[in-house]
Amino acid sequence: MEWGMKNRLSQLIQKDGKALFLPVDHGYFQGPTHCLEKPEETIKPLWQYADALMLTRGVLRNCIDPAIPKPIIMRVSGAVSVVGDLANESIVTSVREVIRLNASAVSMSVFVGTNGENKSLTNLSKLVDECEDYGIPVMAVTSVGRELEKREARYLALVARISAEIGARVVKTYYCKDNFEKVVDGCPVPIVIAGGPKTETQREVFDFVYDGIQKGAIGVNLGRNIWQTQHPVAAIRGIRAIIHEGYDAKEANDLYEQVIAGKA
Ligand code: R5P
Repeated sequence: MEWGMKNRLSQLIQKDGKALFLPVDHGYFQGPTHCLEKPEETIKPLWQYADALMLTRGVLRNCIDPAIPKPIIMRVSGAVSVVGDLANESIVTSVREVIRLNASAVSMSVFVGTNGENKSLTNLSKLVDECEDYGIPVMAVTSVGRELEKREARYLALVARISAEIGARVVKTYYCKDNFEKVVDGCPVPIVIAGGPKTETQREVFDFVYDGIQKGAIGVNLGRNIWQTQHPVAAIRGIRAIIHEGYDAKEANDLYEQVIAGKA
C-alpha cells in the first residue's frame, strides 16, 4: 500500500485499529432530516468525539468550519430521493472536487439485490479505479434492498464481500444479531456498522455496538442513533467508550447516565 493511502486510512482508523465515524449525509436523499435540519448545529457538540465525519460536499462547504481538525469522508453518490428509486444512484461528485475539498476518503452506496445492483457496483469499480490513482480510500455503504429480512448475515456477507472484491478499502454494513461474525470473517477489509432507524432504548445501541465489535467490526458509522436521540453527547460518549476504551454495554450505559446527570 502506498504512503498516501496508508496516511489517509490512518486518519480514519485510529492507532488502536478502531474507528467511530459520524455520518450526517442523510439529507442527500431525505432532505431536511429530523434533527439534521441545520447540520452545523447537530455536529457542533458531537464532532470532538468522532474520528471522522461523513457528509456531502454541500454540507461540508456550507456548514463545516474549514479549521475543524477531523478527517472528512465525502459521500459522492446520490441523485436520488426518498420519493423515487433509491437504488438508482449516480456518482455526483468528482475526485478532483474531493481532492480540492481535502477529503480523506469517499463513500458511496451499493445496492445488491435491487434493480440498481449492476449500476451501483459498476459505479463502485469506476470510483475505486479513479481514487486508487490518488491514494484515496473508498468506503462502500452497503445495502441489500428495503426488506428487513434481507438484513441477515448471508446477504450482508454477500454485499460486503462483493464490495471488497471490487476494491472498497472499508465496508459499512448493518449489524445483525445472528452470525454477524460471518459477515466480518468473509470480508477481507475492515467493517464498520451502521445504525439504521432509531432504536427504542439507548441500551439497545450499546448492546449491538458492543456485540459487533466483539465479533470483529472495527467500529461504527452511526448517525440517527446518536443525533436523533434525546441525549446525543451522552450517546456518542457511550459508543466511543465501547470502541476505544474497552467498555462493555453496561459500562457504556452507566457512562451515558452519568453524562446526562452531569457527573462525567
Ligand atoms: C444513509 O443515509 C447514510 O449512508 C448513512 O450514513 C448510514 O445509513 C448511517 O447512518 P444511520 O446510522 O443513521 O443509519
